[in-house]
Amino acid sequence: MKILAIESSCDETAAAVVEDGRRVISSVVASQVEEHKLYGGVVPEIASRRHAEAIVPVVSQALEQADVTLGDIDAIAVTYAPGLIGALLVGVNFAKGLSLASGIPLVPTHHLRSHIASNYISNLELKPPFLCLIVSGGHSHIVMVEDYTKMKIIGRTRDDAAGEAFDKAARTMGMPYPGGIALDKVAEDGDPHAFTLPRPVVHDAPYDFSFSGLKTAVINLIHNSAQKGIELNKADVCASFRYAVVDCLTTNFLKAAEDLGVKRLVIAGGVSANSLLRSTLEAECKKRGYEFYMPAKSLCGDNAAMVGSQGYYEYLSGNIAKTDLNAFATMSIE
Ligand code: KG4
Ligand code: ZN
Repeated sequence: MKILAIESSCDETAAAVVEDGRRVISSVVASQVEEHKLYGGVVPEIASRRHAEAIVPVVSQALEQADVTLGDIDAIAVTYAPGLIGALLVGVNFAKGLSLASGIPLVPTHHLRSHIASNYISNLELKPPFLCLIVSGGHSHIVMVEDYTKMKIIGRTRDDAAGEAFDKAARTMGMPYPGGIALDKVAEDGDPHAFTLPRPVVHDAPYDFSFSGLKTAVINLIHNSAQKGIELNKADVCASFRYAVVDCLTTNFLKAAEDLGVKRLVIAGGVSANSLLRSTLEAECKKRGYEFYMPAKSLCGDNAAMVGSQGYYEYLSGNIAKTDLNAFATMSIE
Protein backbone atom coordinates (compact mmCIF):
# COMPACT_ATOMS: atom_id res chain seq x y z
CA MET A 1 0.00 0.00 0.00
CA LYS A 2 1.45 3.38 -1.07
CA ILE A 3 0.85 6.52 0.99
CA LEU A 4 1.52 10.09 -0.10
CA ALA A 5 2.44 11.98 3.08
CA ILE A 6 2.43 15.73 3.71
CA GLU A 7 4.01 17.64 6.63
CA SER A 8 3.84 21.41 7.32
CA SER A 9 3.56 21.77 11.11
CA CYS A 10 6.51 24.10 11.66
CA ASP A 11 9.25 25.36 9.33
CA GLU A 12 9.70 22.42 6.96
CA THR A 13 7.44 21.76 3.98
CA ALA A 14 7.77 18.05 3.30
CA ALA A 15 6.23 15.30 1.18
CA ALA A 16 7.04 11.60 0.80
CA VAL A 17 5.81 8.38 -0.71
CA VAL A 18 6.01 5.44 1.71
CA GLU A 19 5.10 1.80 1.08
CA ASP A 20 3.46 -0.34 3.77
CA GLY A 21 4.58 2.01 6.52
CA ARG A 22 8.19 0.93 6.39
CA ARG A 23 9.76 1.55 2.97
CA VAL A 24 10.49 5.14 1.92
CA ILE A 25 10.22 5.44 -1.88
CA SER A 26 10.77 9.20 -1.95
CA SER A 27 11.17 11.97 0.62
CA VAL A 28 11.47 15.71 -0.07
CA VAL A 29 12.07 18.33 2.64
CA ALA A 30 12.10 22.07 1.87
CA SER A 31 13.50 23.86 4.91
CA GLN A 32 12.78 27.51 5.71
CA VAL A 33 15.43 27.65 8.43
CA GLU A 34 17.72 30.12 6.65
CA GLU A 35 14.95 32.74 6.59
CA HIS A 36 13.84 32.20 10.22
CA LYS A 37 17.51 32.41 11.32
CA LEU A 38 17.37 36.15 10.57
CA TYR A 39 14.81 36.55 13.40
CA GLY A 40 16.33 34.08 15.90
CA GLY A 41 13.31 31.75 15.74
CA VAL A 42 10.33 30.68 13.63
CA VAL A 43 8.07 33.58 12.56
CA PRO A 44 4.62 31.93 12.15
CA GLU A 45 3.33 34.33 9.47
CA ILE A 46 6.43 33.80 7.33
CA ALA A 47 6.21 30.02 7.85
CA SER A 48 2.61 29.90 6.54
CA ARG A 49 3.47 31.93 3.44
CA ARG A 50 6.50 29.80 2.59
CA HIS A 51 4.46 26.58 3.02
CA ALA A 52 1.84 27.98 0.61
CA GLU A 53 4.58 28.65 -1.95
CA ALA A 54 6.40 25.33 -1.48
CA ILE A 55 3.57 22.82 -1.12
CA VAL A 56 2.82 22.25 -4.83
CA PRO A 57 6.45 21.85 -5.99
CA VAL A 58 7.37 19.70 -2.96
CA VAL A 59 4.45 17.27 -3.42
CA SER A 60 5.07 17.12 -7.20
CA GLN A 61 8.74 16.36 -6.58
CA ALA A 62 7.91 13.57 -4.11
CA LEU A 63 5.62 11.90 -6.67
CA GLU A 64 8.18 12.37 -9.46
CA GLN A 65 11.08 10.99 -7.41
CA ALA A 66 8.97 7.94 -6.50
CA ASP A 67 8.13 7.56 -10.19
CA VAL A 68 4.40 7.33 -9.40
CA THR A 69 1.27 9.34 -10.21
CA LEU A 70 -1.75 9.99 -7.98
CA GLY A 71 -3.34 6.92 -9.58
CA ASP A 72 -0.78 4.73 -7.75
CA ILE A 73 -1.50 6.28 -4.33
CA ASP A 74 -3.82 4.42 -1.91
CA ALA A 75 -4.09 7.08 0.81
CA ILE A 76 -2.97 10.62 1.61
CA ALA A 77 -1.62 11.17 5.14
CA VAL A 78 -1.33 14.69 6.50
CA THR A 79 -0.11 16.24 9.76
CA TYR A 80 -3.14 17.96 11.31
CA ALA A 81 -1.89 18.57 14.90
CA PRO A 82 -0.06 19.84 16.90
CA GLY A 83 1.95 22.75 15.47
CA LEU A 84 1.68 26.32 14.19
CA ILE A 85 -1.94 26.66 13.17
CA GLY A 86 -1.36 28.70 10.01
CA ALA A 87 1.37 26.32 8.92
CA LEU A 88 -0.73 23.20 9.59
CA LEU A 89 -3.69 24.65 7.67
CA VAL A 90 -1.64 24.88 4.48
CA GLY A 91 -0.88 21.14 4.49
CA VAL A 92 -4.35 20.11 5.68
CA ASN A 93 -6.22 22.20 3.11
CA PHE A 94 -3.93 21.09 0.30
CA ALA A 95 -4.39 17.43 1.28
CA LYS A 96 -8.17 17.86 1.59
CA GLY A 97 -8.34 19.37 -1.88
CA LEU A 98 -6.23 16.59 -3.33
CA SER A 99 -8.32 13.93 -1.59
CA LEU A 100 -11.64 15.46 -2.69
CA ALA A 101 -10.53 15.84 -6.30
CA SER A 102 -9.01 12.35 -6.57
CA GLY A 103 -11.26 10.31 -4.28
CA ILE A 104 -8.19 9.02 -2.41
CA PRO A 105 -8.89 8.56 1.34
CA LEU A 106 -7.37 11.14 3.70
CA VAL A 107 -5.63 10.07 6.92
CA PRO A 108 -5.16 12.66 9.70
CA THR A 109 -1.82 12.10 11.44
CA HIS A 110 -0.56 13.43 14.80
CA HIS A 111 2.89 15.03 14.53
CA LEU A 112 4.37 13.41 17.66
CA ARG A 113 3.03 9.98 16.70
CA SER A 114 4.85 10.49 13.38
CA HIS A 115 8.11 11.27 15.20
CA ILE A 116 7.76 7.91 16.97
CA ALA A 117 7.13 6.25 13.58
CA SER A 118 10.49 7.47 12.22
CA ASN A 119 11.76 4.49 14.21
CA TYR A 120 9.67 2.02 12.17
CA ILE A 121 11.57 3.17 9.08
CA SER A 122 15.02 3.01 10.70
CA ASN A 123 14.39 -0.23 12.62
CA LEU A 124 12.35 -2.64 10.52
CA GLU A 125 12.09 -5.18 13.33
CA LEU A 126 10.66 -2.69 15.84
CA LYS A 127 7.08 -3.29 16.98
CA PRO A 128 5.06 -1.94 19.94
CA PRO A 129 4.82 -2.23 22.91
CA PHE A 130 7.69 0.03 23.97
CA LEU A 131 8.45 3.10 26.07
CA CYS A 132 9.34 6.20 24.02
CA LEU A 133 11.10 9.42 24.96
CA ILE A 134 9.87 12.09 22.53
CA VAL A 135 12.03 15.19 22.63
CA SER A 136 11.42 17.95 20.10
CA GLY A 137 11.43 21.73 19.88
CA GLY A 138 7.94 21.98 21.34
CA HIS A 139 7.46 18.79 23.41
CA SER A 140 9.21 16.49 25.89
CA HIS A 141 7.18 13.40 26.70
CA ILE A 142 7.67 9.90 28.02
CA VAL A 143 5.00 7.83 26.27
CA MET A 144 3.99 4.19 26.64
CA VAL A 145 3.33 3.04 23.06
CA GLU A 146 1.00 0.10 23.69
CA ASP A 147 0.18 -0.31 20.01
CA TYR A 148 0.78 1.69 16.80
CA THR A 149 -2.21 3.95 17.54
CA LYS A 150 -2.67 3.42 21.29
CA MET A 151 -0.49 5.55 23.57
CA LYS A 152 -0.40 6.71 27.17
CA ILE A 153 1.56 9.71 28.48
CA ILE A 154 3.73 8.69 31.45
CA GLY A 155 5.63 11.96 31.88
CA ARG A 156 5.79 15.42 30.32
CA THR A 157 7.57 18.74 30.71
CA ARG A 158 5.96 21.25 33.04
CA ASP A 159 7.50 24.23 31.23
CA ASP A 160 10.07 24.35 28.39
CA ALA A 161 10.70 21.49 25.99
CA ALA A 162 14.26 20.09 25.85
CA GLY A 163 14.79 21.46 22.31
CA GLU A 164 13.57 24.88 23.37
CA ALA A 165 16.05 24.90 26.29
CA PHE A 166 18.89 23.88 23.95
CA ASP A 167 17.93 26.63 21.48
CA LYS A 168 17.68 29.38 24.13
CA ALA A 169 21.01 28.43 25.74
CA ALA A 170 22.64 28.36 22.30
CA ARG A 171 21.15 31.75 21.39
CA THR A 172 22.61 33.30 24.56
CA MET A 173 26.01 32.10 23.35
CA GLY A 174 25.46 33.72 19.95
CA MET A 175 24.71 30.56 17.97
CA PRO A 176 22.17 30.86 15.12
CA TYR A 177 18.67 29.29 15.27
CA PRO A 178 18.07 26.38 15.81
CA GLY A 179 21.06 26.33 18.14
CA GLY A 180 20.59 22.82 19.57
CA ILE A 181 22.54 21.24 16.72
CA ALA A 182 25.45 23.71 16.98
CA LEU A 183 25.54 23.43 20.79
CA ASP A 184 25.77 19.64 20.50
CA LYS A 185 28.80 19.96 18.19
CA VAL A 186 30.63 22.55 20.32
CA ALA A 187 29.98 20.43 23.45
CA GLU A 188 32.07 17.61 21.98
CA ASP A 189 35.27 19.58 22.80
CA GLY A 190 34.23 20.64 26.30
CA ASP A 191 34.33 19.28 29.86
CA PRO A 192 30.83 18.27 31.05
CA HIS A 193 31.92 18.72 34.68
CA ALA A 194 33.41 22.22 34.26
CA PHE A 195 30.27 23.95 35.59
CA THR A 196 27.74 22.68 38.12
CA LEU A 197 24.20 23.20 36.85
CA PRO A 198 20.95 22.23 38.62
CA ARG A 199 18.93 19.08 37.90
CA PRO A 200 15.37 20.32 38.50
CA VAL A 201 12.89 17.68 39.66
CA VAL A 202 9.11 17.93 39.82
CA HIS A 203 7.77 17.16 43.30
CA ASP A 204 5.58 14.01 43.39
CA ALA A 205 5.94 13.47 39.60
CA PRO A 206 9.17 11.49 39.06
CA TYR A 207 8.68 11.13 35.29
CA ASP A 208 7.91 14.81 34.59
CA PHE A 209 10.56 17.27 33.41
CA SER A 210 11.27 20.94 34.11
CA PHE A 211 13.88 22.69 32.00
CA SER A 212 13.15 26.37 32.61
CA GLY A 213 15.24 26.61 35.82
CA LEU A 214 18.16 24.85 34.16
CA LYS A 215 17.88 27.16 31.14
CA THR A 216 17.83 30.24 33.41
CA ALA A 217 20.84 28.92 35.35
CA VAL A 218 23.00 28.65 32.23
CA ILE A 219 21.82 32.04 30.92
CA ASN A 220 22.66 33.65 34.31
CA LEU A 221 26.08 31.98 34.30
CA ILE A 222 26.83 33.46 30.87
CA HIS A 223 25.46 36.95 31.66
CA ASN A 224 27.11 37.21 35.11
CA SER A 225 30.50 36.25 33.67
CA ALA A 226 30.11 38.77 30.83
CA GLN A 227 29.29 41.56 33.34
CA LYS A 228 32.42 40.71 35.34
CA GLY A 229 34.52 40.60 32.18
CA ILE A 230 35.29 36.90 32.70
CA GLU A 231 35.56 34.94 29.48
CA LEU A 232 34.01 31.48 29.80
CA ASN A 233 35.19 28.50 27.80
CA LYS A 234 32.22 28.09 25.40
CA ALA A 235 32.84 24.37 24.85
CA ASP A 236 32.83 23.78 28.62
CA VAL A 237 29.52 25.68 29.02
CA CYS A 238 27.95 23.73 26.15
CA ALA A 239 29.23 20.40 27.48
CA SER A 240 28.02 21.11 31.04
CA PHE A 241 24.59 22.22 29.83
CA ARG A 242 24.19 19.28 27.43
CA TYR A 243 25.21 16.89 30.21
CA ALA A 244 22.62 18.42 32.58
CA VAL A 245 19.76 18.19 30.04
CA VAL A 246 20.67 14.63 29.02
CA ASP A 247 21.04 13.64 32.69
CA CYS A 248 17.47 14.87 33.45
CA LEU A 249 16.05 13.13 30.36
CA THR A 250 17.77 9.78 30.86
CA THR A 251 17.26 9.61 34.65
CA ASN A 252 13.46 9.98 34.38
CA PHE A 253 13.19 7.81 31.26
CA LEU A 254 15.17 4.93 32.79
CA LYS A 255 13.25 5.22 36.09
CA ALA A 256 9.94 5.02 34.19
CA ALA A 257 11.17 1.94 32.31
CA GLU A 258 12.27 0.25 35.53
CA ASP A 259 9.06 1.08 37.43
CA LEU A 260 6.84 -0.06 34.54
CA GLY A 261 8.96 -3.13 33.82
CA VAL A 262 9.41 -2.18 30.16
CA LYS A 263 12.57 -3.48 28.51
CA ARG A 264 12.21 -1.99 25.02
CA LEU A 265 13.17 1.70 24.83
CA VAL A 266 12.90 4.12 21.91
CA ILE A 267 13.76 7.79 21.36
CA ALA A 268 12.26 10.22 18.83
CA GLY A 269 12.03 13.91 17.83
CA GLY A 270 14.58 16.55 16.83
CA VAL A 271 16.58 16.27 20.07
CA SER A 272 16.95 12.49 19.59
CA ALA A 273 19.75 13.47 17.16
CA ASN A 274 21.76 14.66 20.19
CA SER A 275 24.98 12.64 20.31
CA LEU A 276 25.24 12.47 24.12
CA LEU A 277 21.59 11.42 24.51
CA ARG A 278 22.10 8.66 21.94
CA SER A 279 25.37 7.33 23.38
CA THR A 280 24.20 7.56 27.03
CA LEU A 281 20.98 5.63 26.43
CA GLU A 282 22.74 3.10 24.20
CA ALA A 283 25.23 2.37 27.00
CA GLU A 284 22.66 2.37 29.83
CA CYS A 285 20.30 0.05 27.93
CA LYS A 286 23.14 -2.33 27.13
CA LYS A 287 24.09 -2.41 30.83
CA ARG A 288 20.50 -3.22 31.83
CA GLY A 289 19.88 -5.74 29.04
CA TYR A 290 17.18 -3.57 27.42
CA GLU A 291 16.51 -3.31 23.69
CA PHE A 292 17.20 0.24 22.48
CA TYR A 293 16.09 1.87 19.21
CA MET A 294 16.65 5.30 17.71
CA PRO A 295 15.84 6.89 14.35
CA ALA A 296 18.58 7.53 11.76
CA LYS A 297 19.86 11.09 12.37
CA SER A 298 18.38 12.12 9.01
CA LEU A 299 14.88 11.18 10.26
CA CYS A 300 15.05 12.88 13.69
CA GLY A 301 13.96 16.31 12.43
CA ASP A 302 10.66 17.09 10.74
CA ASN A 303 10.05 15.11 7.52
CA ALA A 304 7.12 13.49 5.71
CA ALA A 305 8.52 9.95 5.54
CA MET A 306 7.62 9.48 9.21
CA VAL A 307 4.11 10.82 8.47
CA GLY A 308 3.76 8.19 5.73
CA SER A 309 4.79 5.50 8.21
CA GLN A 310 2.40 6.52 11.00
CA GLY A 311 -0.30 7.28 8.39
CA TYR A 312 -0.18 3.63 7.32
CA TYR A 313 -0.95 2.39 10.84
CA GLU A 314 -3.62 5.08 11.33
CA TYR A 315 -5.24 3.92 8.06
CA LEU A 316 -5.17 0.27 9.20
CA SER A 317 -6.87 1.28 12.46
CA GLY A 318 -9.69 2.96 10.48
CA ASN A 319 -8.64 6.56 11.10
CA ILE A 320 -10.00 8.17 7.93
CA ALA A 321 -10.84 11.91 7.82
CA LYS A 322 -14.15 13.36 6.74
CA THR A 323 -14.34 16.42 4.49
CA ASP A 324 -14.60 18.71 7.53
CA LEU A 325 -11.09 17.84 8.80
CA ASN A 326 -9.55 20.80 10.66
CA ALA A 327 -6.05 21.56 11.99
CA PHE A 328 -5.31 21.97 15.71
CA ALA A 329 -2.40 23.84 17.34
CA THR A 330 -2.54 21.56 20.39
CA MET A 331 -3.73 17.98 20.73
CA SER A 332 -2.75 15.17 23.10
CA ILE A 333 -0.84 12.24 21.60
CA GLU A 334 -3.29 9.90 23.36
O1 KG4 B 1 11.25 17.57 16.14
P1 KG4 B 1 11.81 18.83 15.62
O2 KG4 B 1 12.54 18.82 14.32
O3 KG4 B 1 10.70 19.93 15.50
C1 KG4 B 1 9.61 19.98 16.36
O4 KG4 B 1 8.64 19.21 16.15
O5 KG4 B 1 9.71 20.77 17.33
O6 KG4 B 1 12.79 19.39 16.76
C2 KG4 B 1 13.55 20.53 16.59
C3 KG4 B 1 14.40 20.74 17.83
C4 KG4 B 1 15.11 22.09 17.86
O7 KG4 B 1 14.91 22.67 19.13
C5 KG4 B 1 16.57 21.72 17.63
O8 KG4 B 1 17.49 22.61 18.21
C6 KG4 B 1 16.64 20.37 18.29
O9 KG4 B 1 15.44 19.73 17.89
N1 KG4 B 1 17.81 19.59 17.88
C7 KG4 B 1 18.82 19.24 18.72
C8 KG4 B 1 19.77 18.52 17.93
N2 KG4 B 1 19.29 18.45 16.66
C9 KG4 B 1 18.09 19.12 16.64
N3 KG4 B 1 18.99 19.47 20.04
C10 KG4 B 1 20.11 18.99 20.59
N4 KG4 B 1 21.06 18.29 19.92
C11 KG4 B 1 20.92 18.04 18.59
N5 KG4 B 1 21.86 17.36 17.93
ZN1 ZN C 1 8.68 17.75 14.95
